[in-house]
Amino acid sequence: EDILTTETFGRTYEYIERTESTNREARRLAEEGTPEGTVVITEEQVAGRGRLNRGWFSPYAKGLWFSVVLRPTFPPIEAPKCTLMAAVALIKAFRELGLTTAGIKWPNDIMVHGRKLVGILTEMSGSMEAIDYIVMGIGINISSQLKDFPEELQSIGTSFAVEGVQVDRRHALDVILRCLETQYKKVCTEGFDSTLEEWKLYSITLNKDVTVKAPGEDYIGHAVDLDRDGNLIVERADNGQVERVVAGDVSIRPV
Ligand code: BTN
Repeated sequence: EDILTTETFGRTYEYIERTESTNREARRLAEEGTPEGTVVITEEQVAGRGRLNRGWFSPYAKGLWFSVVLRPTFPPIEAPKCTLMAAVALIKAFRELGLTTAGIKWPNDIMVHGRKLVGILTEMSGSMEAIDYIVMGIGINISSQLKDFPEELQSIGTSFAVEGVQVDRRHALDVILRCLETQYKKVCTEGFDSTLEEWKLYSITLNKDVTVKAPGEDYIGHAVDLDRDGNLIVERADNGQVERVVAGDVSIRPV
């Protein structure tokens, strides 16, 4: 039955009960020419992937594990900002679903009470000149209890259920896809500037003291801004120098 209120997102979709990784499956479909907005969704990933070659815990029916295929015409250099866009859209969707306490930890984690609720993995294929496709993979913990998480995640992970918010997964998916589609259309027509401003509003990293673990040296500083490319601007505590922190190069945590 049609529960979707979107125009394009999820209008073409593949539901698989169990798969290695929806990002992997979405890439395969994208290579075959599947249209923009195609969604791949599963109950369980047996090899869910996270950033920095980490895994992503994706137990059966306990979350929303899905990927969306995008074919934007903006230049490839903008592609990483899709992750910021997704984070903003998800915060809006979560508010609509009754979870009002979520914030964005730079660059792309959605946190509640210091614990991670969501992971986003954006992958691009194309050339220096043009994007062929982007696969935006999103994992949201919905009904897991803390005891369901592997031991090493029990102190750092959370879910809607753990935060005391009951949601129907199908309804949540509809709200989320609608918010993602709206935000995506906005960046396609107006660019990323207003989305970056919204990102700042929802950020839990900005205006905080942070530790930057950069290759070669760690330092403490104050996160003062987000630049137009989505880099974090940090003023060092030791020498007052302003550093531009590029996602992927570093990990960052509250002091
Ligand atoms: C991270 O925080 O490291 C990103 C995790 C991304 C997980 C999602 S779940 C759906 C999609 N398929 C994957 O294999 N990964 C992403």
